[in-house]
Amino acid sequence: VTVGGAAEAAVSGEPFVIAVDGPSGSGKSTVCRRLAQRLGARYLDTGSMYRAVTLAVLRAGVDPHDTATVIKIASSVELVVGTDPVEPHIGLDGELVDQPIRGIEVTTHVSAVAAVPEVRRRLVDQQREIIAAARRSTGIVVEGRDIGAVVAPDAHLKVFLTADPVERARRRSAELASDLHATAEDLARRDQLDSTRTTDPLAQAPDAVVVDTTVLSIDEVVARLADLLPGVKA
Ligand code: DC
Repeated sequence: VTVGGAAEAAVSGEPFVIAVDGPSGSGKSTVCRRLAQRLGARYLDTGSMYRAVTLAVLRAGVDPHDTATVIKIASSVELVVGTDPVEPHIGLDGELVDQPIRGIEVTTHVSAVAAVPEVRRRLVDQQREIIAAARRSTGIVVEGRDIGAVVAPDAHLKVFLTADPVERARRRSAELASDLHATAEDLARRDQLDSTRTTDPLAQAPDAVVVDTTVLSIDEVVARLADLLPGVKA
């Protein structure tokens, strides 16, 4: 576990990068947004980028498994990512799509789109640019599946959030007001796809701090992460 870099960065007030990975329902989004707010840092939700490309694919009437066309769409869309942790936004070709990317259609097909190596390469490049810009100013909390392992292997702090699958499904169905059983099945299906794809699967970086959130509140998780950054009040 290497948290020394983050500790030094926090103490000296230097901009830092915090990478947070984990499966759906582990509490990543809420935790990362709150942590970024407390640290006065930016926030990047990389999942929203894969979702926006999926939305573009579906709107074009393209089969998400038609890889060649999916790659074409991914390389032609313009994604604008807002990194304010209070109000994160994502724009697709000039339109804010924060709402439609959370819909069931996108959620069902996003794993297929996120499995395409060319799509990942394009989005990882853009993510690295956003991180580099934040590194020159305020620091950033980045959430996803491959952040510590691939996108920002030099992050000052890497965290892997986990939670019991039953608890993850419970949280997700409460959030979406969806059926618990169907939500549990959808989560299991996406976990399986996201962890077994060939390119950059959901992965725990060897130097990540693992935090099991099953019995922790959001505030407790945020406090635990902030504890890893001495000099920062949670
Ligand atoms: O975190 P989320 O549910 O919004 O992510 C949507 C999908 O995108 C999820 O199925 C996994 C994928 N994803 C990814 O492959 N790599 C990332 N860095 C972030 C998300």
